[in-house]
Order: sequence, then C-alpha cells, then structure tokens
Amino acid sequence: MTNASYFKSHLDSAHRYWQDIVTFGDTVVDATCGNGHDTLMLCRLALKNDVGRVYTLDIQACALTKAKKLLSNTLSTELLQRVHLIEGSHETFPAHLQENSVKLIAYNLGYLPGGDKALTTRTDSTLKSLAAAQKLLIEEGFISLTCYPGHPEGLVEETALLEYTAQLPSHLWNCCHHRWLNRQQSPSLLIIQKRKKI
Ligand SMILES: C[S@@+](CC[C@H](N)C(=O)[O-])C[C@H]1O[C@@H](n2cnc3c(N)ncnc32)[C@H](O)[C@@H]1O
Repeated sequence: MTNASYFKSHLDSAHRYWQDIVTFGDTVVDATCGNGHDTLMLCRLALKNDVGRVYTLDIQACALTKAKKLLSNTLSTELLQRVHLIEGSHETFPAHLQENSVKLIAYNLGYLPGGDKALTTRTDSTLKSLAAAQKLLIEEGFISLTCYPGHPEGLVEETALLEYTAQLPSHLWNCCHHRWLNRQQSPSLLIIQKRKKI
C-alpha cells in the first residue's frame, strides 16, 4: 500500500505541488474560484494568524456565494479577513496586486461543476490572464493550470496553452506538463515556474 497520490487525479497532483510551494504568509491567487474548494486549500496553506493573503476570482456571482459559504463555515473570522473574493474575469487581476508579489496562481479551467457549461473558461481570456499572471509572480513562484481537453473548448484551450508555454524562454521559465498517456482526453496539469535571475 502506497501513500503516493500521483496516479489519483490531476487535482491531487496539483494539490501536491501546492503543498510543496505555499507556506504561511504567502500571497496566492485562485484565478477560478468556482465552489471554493481549491480556494479553501490555498487558505489552509497560506493563512495563519495575521499573515498571508488569498485572492479568488470568478465571473459567476453564484459561484462566489457558494465559495463564501464554504469558507465562512470552515475558516476563523480572523483568517476570513485575509481572503478577497472578487467577481470578475481573471483577465484583470486586482490593481493593488503588485508585480513580483504572488507565490502561486492556480487555475482550475473549464466550467463550474453542476453549473452552466456555457460559462467555461475561454482560450483568449485564459491566455491574456496567463500573461498577466506571469508578471505577478515572485521569482521561483508558480502557475498551476488544470486543463480539460475532454470538451471542445477545453481541447482548444489546452492546445493553445501548451503552444504558448512551449515557447517561453527556458532561462526564464520552467514548464512541465503532466498528462495521461493511456487515457484519451483526460484532464492534465500544466505547471510553470518563474526562474530565479542569476
Ligand atoms: C472548474 S471550475 C473551478 C472549480 C473551483 N476551483 C473549485 O474548487 O470548486 C471553473 C470556474 O472558472 C470560472 N470562470 C470561467 N471563466 C472565468 C474568467 N474569465 N475569470 C474567472 N473565472 C472564470 C467559472 O465560472 C467556473 O466557476
């Protein structure tokens, strides 16, 4: 019996990365809040007493309402004050988030589970957001994207993200793609790290 979760799901793999990356006091962003499960995990990793900040964005007010309920039921009032729920597209991050200030920006792409499938993430806005996210990262900070090529827009989005990421200069960015080789169109995980300047 092994404890390793590498072959459970793309989300488990993403969460393992986050656990390695995020420490108390970090500023982190969930670019696709949805029902708030990923945001909650990021809160548990980044927030303690009066340190750490979590920003979480979604275009759907109903998603943020659910996420807020989950967070309110789980986190102390003290920690909740350090979570910023923002209704809007991740194409534009909050203006007061400065360049070189964020440890991890996480995207769980696609549509809200149980929600309107038409309100999925879109290739053009995701690419625009990714370019903005790159600027916000601190050195050695990470961007994590879970992709869903099993639906048509998700396949276009994953393909575009891989093309974009593959051309990032390797002296500035580490880019890694985890995908199932024997499960067609399964979700995949794209991890991007800003390299330290030397
Ligand atoms: C797969 S769900 C995210 C799941 C979520 N992280 C969780 O833990 O429940 C994708 C979410 O992205 C949101 N979304 C779609 N386009 C967006 C955009 N341009 N900016 C921010 N959120 C967006 C959708 O509304 C949906 O809630």
